[in-house]
Amino acid sequence: MTDKIALIESAKNILLKNNVDGYTVPTHGLYPFQWNWDAAITALGWMKVDESRAWLEIEMLLKGQWDNGMVPHIIFHKPVDSYFPGPDVWGVKNTIPTTAISQPPVLVSVVKLMVEQANDKALAQAKLAEMLPSLIAYHKWWYNDRDPENTGLVVSYHPWESGMDNSPAWDESLDAVPPVTYKYKRKDLDHVDSDERPHAEQYDRYIYLVDFFKQSNFDSEVIYRDCPYKMYDVGIISILHKATKELVTLCEQSGSESEQITWFNQKLSATEAAIKTLWSAEHNSFLNQDAITKKSFPVLTTGTMLVVYAELVSNDQLALIKPLFNDWLKETEYGMSSTYAKCAEFEPQRYWRGPVWLHINWLLALGAEHYGLTEESEQLKQASERLITEVGYFEYFNSKTGAGCGGDEFSWTAAIALHWFL
Ligand code: GLC
Repeated sequence: MTDKIALIESAKNILLKNNVDGYTVPTHGLYPFQWNWDAAITALGWMKVDESRAWLEIEMLLKGQWDNGMVPHIIFHKPVDSYFPGPDVWGVKNTIPTTAISQPPVLVSVVKLMVEQANDKALAQAKLAEMLPSLIAYHKWWYNDRDPENTGLVVSYHPWESGMDNSPAWDESLDAVPPVTYKYKRKDLDHVDSDERPHAEQYDRYIYLVDFFKQSNFDSEVIYRDCPYKMYDVGIISILHKATKELVTLCEQSGSESEQITWFNQKLSATEAAIKTLWSAEHNSFLNQDAITKKSFPVLTTGTMLVVYAELVSNDQLALIKPLFNDWLKETEYGMSSTYAKCAEFEPQRYWRGPVWLHINWLLALGAEHYGLTEESEQLKQASERLITEVGYFEYFNSKTGAGCGGDEFSWTAAIALHWFL
């Protein structure tokens, strides 16, 4: 019991320590700004500390929202020089500088949870009423900007947008992007060992894409037409789908216009139909697909498994996915490794190529629970609890040894622990 109290205290202290003027940095040094899906997940942790602070986290994130509705992946609230590429490299000239891409839109799902779990219902309702138009605009942006041809599948333009930066799922597509040829200084390697971070060849291409957005004047049509990297990322598609369903519920509860609700329902139906094209009977899994070459990549990642969280799986598919889900959990002891350990690309230590991430364990546990995979869901929770108790609040964990990796005192790890099992 006392151990648990100590764990709760340290999780809360991490949020307090990472708190900067109303937003929370993922961890000082390595990530000194506000990140999109980190902010959402961190708000869930703040709900256990101070509800108005939790709402402020979301408000601060929405301060970076673009006029076209996009909620960017990083909001550079104030200058810090320990990060590359910073606002000058991105070149976005908004009042608050931001990046030019988004991140997995878990935001609305979190807001719905916050409304449901709030003790201060009046505050929650007032905040929801204030932010609902921005949340609607964000989701409209995803469908209009990233699926202008109404295929039912949004595209992503950068591995950073996936939130799963160096996932092996996009190695081949990233290889097709030209590398920058000028020299620049990465700053992530000042904070973390290079064997836990993406390789230089990948970084050169990440930066090429950043330059490409700037040279395209951030023009949506130009980028959709010419971007050398376009991915049907099953993780983003799934998180968006789940959040749109929840947005529809929030709109219904708030008495939004029925036309708006119908529009979102049409988008949901389109995705439910289109996701089938990403199913691989050979691998018993959905696969990420290059939206330019239409080539699918047979690398099984937690991103591809997020269809379970999105509740996008048919009964027939579920019967096939279940043994895979189960085996995936058996291969590593600490939850679901970001790449399935039986794939050749699996690296237990390298960032999104194999380590375990607590918030992903949580999303997958929710999905598993929905489909009646109670044991698997419980396994994910227990594994996550073990990591926190035995190892600590790291950014992510080596999926074979459980060792803490990346940044320490990490906000979303502390927040998920507070929300989920502490
Ligand atoms: C890394 C992760 C990304 C996260 C960010 C801040 O870039 O890949 O998912 O949002 O760090 O924690």
